[in-house]
Amino acid sequence: MKKTTWSLLLLCMLGLLLAGCGKETTEAEKPTATPAVTSEAEPTNTPEPTSTPEPTPTPTAGLTESLYQHYADDFRFGTCVAGAYLKYSKVSELVLQQFNSITCENEMKPDALLDQYQSRAQGKVVVTFSYNTTRILDWAKQNNLKMRGHVLVWHSQTPEWFFREGFRNDGALVSREEMLIRMECYIQQVFAYCDSKYPGLFYAWDVVNEAFTDDGDGLRNSNWYKIFGEDFITEAFRLARKYAPSGVKLFYNDFNTYINYSNKTKTDRICNLVTKLKAEGLIDGVGMQSHLDVSFPSADAFVNTVNRFSALGVEVQITELDVTTKPNAAGWEKQAKYLESIFKQIVKNDRNKTANITSVTVWGVSDKLSWRGSQHPLLFDDNLNPKPAYYSVLQ
Ligand code: XIL
Repeated sequence: MKKTTWSLLLLCMLGLLLAGCGKETTEAEKPTATPAVTSEAEPTNTPEPTSTPEPTPTPTAGLTESLYQHYADDFRFGTCVAGAYLKYSKVSELVLQQFNSITCENEMKPDALLDQYQSRAQGKVVVTFSYNTTRILDWAKQNNLKMRGHVLVWHSQTPEWFFREGFRNDGALVSREEMLIRMECYIQQVFAYCDSKYPGLFYAWDVVNEAFTDDGDGLRNSNWYKIFGEDFITEAFRLARKYAPSGVKLFYNDFNTYINYSNKTKTDRICNLVTKLKAEGLIDGVGMQSHLDVSFPSADAFVNTVNRFSALGVEVQITELDVTTKPNAAGWEKQAKYLESIFKQIVKNDRNKTANITSVTVWGVSDKLSWRGSQHPLLFDDNLNPKPAYYSVLQ
């Protein structure tokens, strides 16, 4: 064979190797030219999830201020959104008026993006961005909002088949080696798709979510942990750094980040992890979910934790803020006071550089749209009217 024919053959083999990331070893699967990441066309009649509550469209007139403008010099101010309720103009108008950052509530979690049918057909991990996801990304792009990506590696809302042989719900857990290939394939595809269709839209990503147990004893016994042991976190950050476009900040995100039940606390665990990852240049910040209650934790305990993470030299983002309370005048008042105390301190600390907060996101637009709606945890009530908590955050 001529030299040029050999070179062509070599190039083809290299191409096939690259196309096969995460490929299972079954003979039947041939590498295909189909790009793994696909985006579904907009369906003509999208069925809406029946559980989506419809907000009563009463006006939010009289709002002369906006949360994101108020804090423009300090940090981004965001909310999570679900595609299903963005179609209500009162909701989308309120989001655009008050927030300059959004997070998909569920639509970018692994169970929303991983495509079992295609993964089995192609014998490798396939990510599909459905209309349910892209309608939010398109809307954000059109309206100049920036986004937090949530979430790449998590024990929850990640399909069981992703961890199992043959991409089957009842397969055995795959080896560490195979799971590493799948993790890489997933992370690479998510970043590649977002960067090609939505360059510059995402400013931060939650790479790993909720890895630690609350008791400070160690890591949650998830499928990730069972397959990898504890270094699944480092591997996830290593791959995220490898594929994330430059400028996208990488976060470890968790709830109850401030609890101290013993001398081995969750806060300490997170600090140790961040110190280690930071030394390797793999992490940019800690996401404090902040699903709080008016009676726990104390505002001071919360603020101290913000300061501790900031002192590690990384950014802190409050990623899922909500504060449960009783639905009466006294409850609204408590909620407002509690938030006022937190905001007063974190803004002061952020300005005097004791804290390094780059984004605050509330977990939902209104109480009715909240995952903890029965406990009224947000800044706007069921009818999208501002609560005392809204005004206290604006003070
Ligand atoms: C919640 C969503 O709000 C719900 O709609 C869904 O049913 C469950 O997940 N920590 C997280 C978020 O990181 O993704 C969770 O969001 C809330 C807890």
